[in-house]
Amino acid sequence: MCGIVGYTGYEQAAPLLIDGLSKLEYRGYDSAGLAIEEKEKLEVVRAKGRLRVLEEMTDNGRALHGFCGIGHTRWATHGVPSVGNAHPHCNAKKTIAVVHNGIIENYQSLKEYLEKNGYHFESETDTEVIAHLLDRYYSGDPLEAITKVMARVTGSYALGILFQDHPGKVFAVRKDSPMIVGSAEQGNFIASDIPAILKYTKNVYFVNNMEIVCMDADTIHFYNVDKEEIEKEMTTISWNAEAAEKDGYEHFMLKEIYEQPKAVQDTISPRIKEGEIVMEELGMSEEEIRQIRRIYMIGCGSAYHVCMSARYVMEALTRIPVEVDLASEFRYRDPILEEDSLVIVISQSGETADTIAALKEAKSRGARVLGIVNVVGSSIAREADNVLYTWAGPEISVATTKAYSTQLAACYLISVYFAKIRQTIKEEKYYDLVEELKNLPEKIQQILGDKERIQWFANKFASSKDIFFIGRGLDYGISLEGSLKLKEISYIHSEAYAAGELKHGTISLIEKGILVIGIATQPDLYDKMISNMVEVKSRGAYLMGLTCYGNYSMEDTANFTVYVPKTEKYFANSLAVIPLQLFAYYVAIARGLDVDKPRNLAKSVTVE
Ligand code: AGP
Repeated sequence: MCGIVGYTGYEQAAPLLIDGLSKLEYRGYDSAGLAIEEKEKLEVVRAKGRLRVLEEMTDNGRALHGFCGIGHTRWATHGVPSVGNAHPHCNAKKTIAVVHNGIIENYQSLKEYLEKNGYHFESETDTEVIAHLLDRYYSGDPLEAITKVMARVTGSYALGILFQDHPGKVFAVRKDSPMIVGSAEQGNFIASDIPAILKYTKNVYFVNNMEIVCMDADTIHFYNVDKEEIEKEMTTISWNAEAAEKDGYEHFMLKEIYEQPKAVQDTISPRIKEGEIVMEELGMSEEEIRQIRRIYMIGCGSAYHVCMSARYVMEALTRIPVEVDLASEFRYRDPILEEDSLVIVISQSGETADTIAALKEAKSRGARVLGIVNVVGSSIAREADNVLYTWAGPEISVATTKAYSTQLAACYLISVYFAKIRQTIKEEKYYDLVEELKNLPEKIQQILGDKERIQWFANKFASSKDIFFIGRGLDYGISLEGSLKLKEISYIHSEAYAAGELKHGTISLIEKGILVIGIATQPDLYDKMISNMVEVKSRGAYLMGLTCYGNYSMEDTANFTVYVPKTEKYFANSLAVIPLQLFAYYVAIARGLDVDKPRNLAKSVTVE
């Protein structure tokens, strides 16, 4: 996704903007640019490729002397990656510069309108429409021009704007795409995400939809679309800039894989007091919990995989029917939501466009919505009726690991908590489950100690063309996640199959030497899984087995076996996922790929 940073203050702006943009590289981009106000002119520099091209062009920003500016990393949506399509975009007189994250859905009709009125376009982007519209509506009052543009434009946008004849001022607007404001000693910032400015301040304001920001070196003002000034509360960010650094690991992904014991601990322990699960943050009384008749779980990508796994746990423990949906499907399928439903949307970033839309769809149908979110103050956190934060800390690598694990942990807590209140489990079982939840971080830590075997095995299969993952029940849920991890960072084709489905077609894909990873952590499905693994082995597959210590019979079938510690079967995914994350990571490393910033991907998909 595109990244935006803006600054106005008492230091040279360009170096601060470039530094801030470097902290947003994880969002994925293909070009970058700056607009700096110098001697009441707007100096615009843009470059295709990585940020270092822009750094080289501007001597790390030192060649641009102004103290006020905006910067952008572009993840191409409309128009190829090129200098001409890179942001900032300007009006013809170069007196207005704008950077944009999002998609202007009606940009074609607006472009035609503007061209009819004599405007010429230099780029293929939707964003350039905004620069010319601002020009058309501007007669000296930026707020007037901005609100008129907001009235004309449909779609999603976070904007940073400079007006040449308002020196020292940065303007920003937000609708659906994320935008924060940071108040620092050396001045004030706008940014798409916290890591961009955390080095300078922990004091941030979260800009809500349809809010406008006007800031200079000393003041920050917020307005609504009626141009009325509004008061906003400042939030102090709890984590520090180092948390968003690599701390000596080669990649953020490996660091975040190793942070999982702590992340899961930080998510679980505040919710277990004196042996009891406490969850006031759900905002639901015990009576309301007893009345829930159906749960809908919604997410995208790995968050969707959490839903797929959590469904088995939630239904088994609470006996509440659970439906699982991809957010991009839910939002358009005219869903039928039962009375007394609980909708749970899961998102690391809290800014995924499809998940936000699904949340709004559910709310418009009268459902109560709970958000399980990692980024404090994100859109989903603020739009859900209640939010259950996962305390994973900042997750920088595009491929999620620790956030996934903490989302699973959050779902376990809810399931066990609901089951106790609804009395669908015995008290003794409840306390056993609570005890085992507390043991998970240590068990995850144990697996991390086994990475060398997995690294060796990953190197053996790094040149594979196809790799399949199979599992039953919860192990099918984790197969989906293992397959996605591998695909998104190694670019190897992979599929995850419910093992019982193999004979319905997909087994035709199995040929000699193809790696099939069979996951068998569920006691009541173990024998069936072994049969499925024998089926594919007899057709030439090379088998990796992933199971719990004690199931040594796996070695009679699998060519290579990875063991994880025994745990409550409901929590097994939290352990099985670790070897799968490490496998994907080491395959990608062996292939010499950019693990943290895989091609074509973004950390948060804030557009449809
Ligand atoms: C997972 O590794 C991917 N980065 C992607 O599937 C991600 O899980 C998905 O885009 C959802 O993101 P969110 O959790 O921020 O909503």
